[in-house]
Amino acid sequence: MSISQRYLEAKRTVDDRALNCRILSRLSEELEAQGAPSFVDIGAGIGIGLERYLELGLPAPRDYTAVDESASFLEIAERRLRDRVQGRFIVSTLEDFSSDPSEHGRFDIVLAHAFLDIVDLGPSLQALIRLARPGGLLYFPITFDGETIFEPSHPSDDEVLEQYHETIGSGGNGGSKTGRRLFHALATHPVDVLEIGSSDWIVHPTEGGYPAEEAFFLGHILEMIEGAVGSPVAKEWASARRGELEKARLLYIAHQVDYLVRKRY
Ligand SMILES: C[S@@+](CC[C@H](N)C(=O)[O-])C[C@H]1O[C@@H](n2cnc3c(N)ncnc32)[C@H](O)[C@@H]1O
Repeated sequence: MSISQRYLEAKRTVDDRALNCRILSRLSEELEAQGAPSFVDIGAGIGIGLERYLELGLPAPRDYTAVDESASFLEIAERRLRDRVQGRFIVSTLEDFSSDPSEHGRFDIVLAHAFLDIVDLGPSLQALIRLARPGGLLYFPITFDGETIFEPSHPSDDEVLEQYHETIGSGGNGGSKTGRRLFHALATHPVDVLEIGSSDWIVHPTEGGYPAEEAFFLGHILEMIEGAVGSPVAKEWASARRGELEKARLLYIAHQVDYLVRKRY
């Protein structure tokens, strides 16, 4: 099931709560020591990564490049950001974009938010590192790490969620455990890991139901799991979970990891 603009918008408040604050502070310190950065956002979606970055008061980029394979997402990103930044909006895969030598070693900051867990980790990491200048930063927030929790528990949780995790990622990225595997994958490159921290998504009802668009977000997650597993058990499981969502009883946790890394040379 493909993701939609509405899903990316609904994800915003969930990500805002989840992002690791210690790593954001370190990013801010590292950037303050430099001038205005040259910034590339890989898998930029509808541009929320830069929007949040600017709202956090981090140093405004001297230039910004958004790369995404989805032309429709990038059109939205361009509309959202064109008054705020000098930008390029490039419809491309990471693989194609990073094969252009004029982009190599060019960026002070390479952002890939909620990205490395959906692609082939080895080649994608190499491509991202190639884009950073020596001494440049790579920031990989919201990297899924293979733990999905729903409460209250349901007898089919283990079966459905194990099968769901097997469907995540592509071509040898080690299933869904990219958050933890990234550490040793980085060790094979000339980079220093500056900070690692957890950034779990936690969506829970409050007295007034789910905040912002988070009921929609959770409904989309259930559809995604049901569609990915595609079994009668998953269908029955998702239907029971939707009932709990409607009654504002469902708690969801997804374990994720943020990384901040510096390229040595
Ligand atoms: C989970 S979304 C995250 C979007 C955005 N970073 C955010 O967090 O709001 C992943 C994005 O990566 C894009 N994408 C997936 N594979 C890609 C690839 N190989 N190269 C470039 N973009 C890709 C998708 O179109 C989608 O916009």
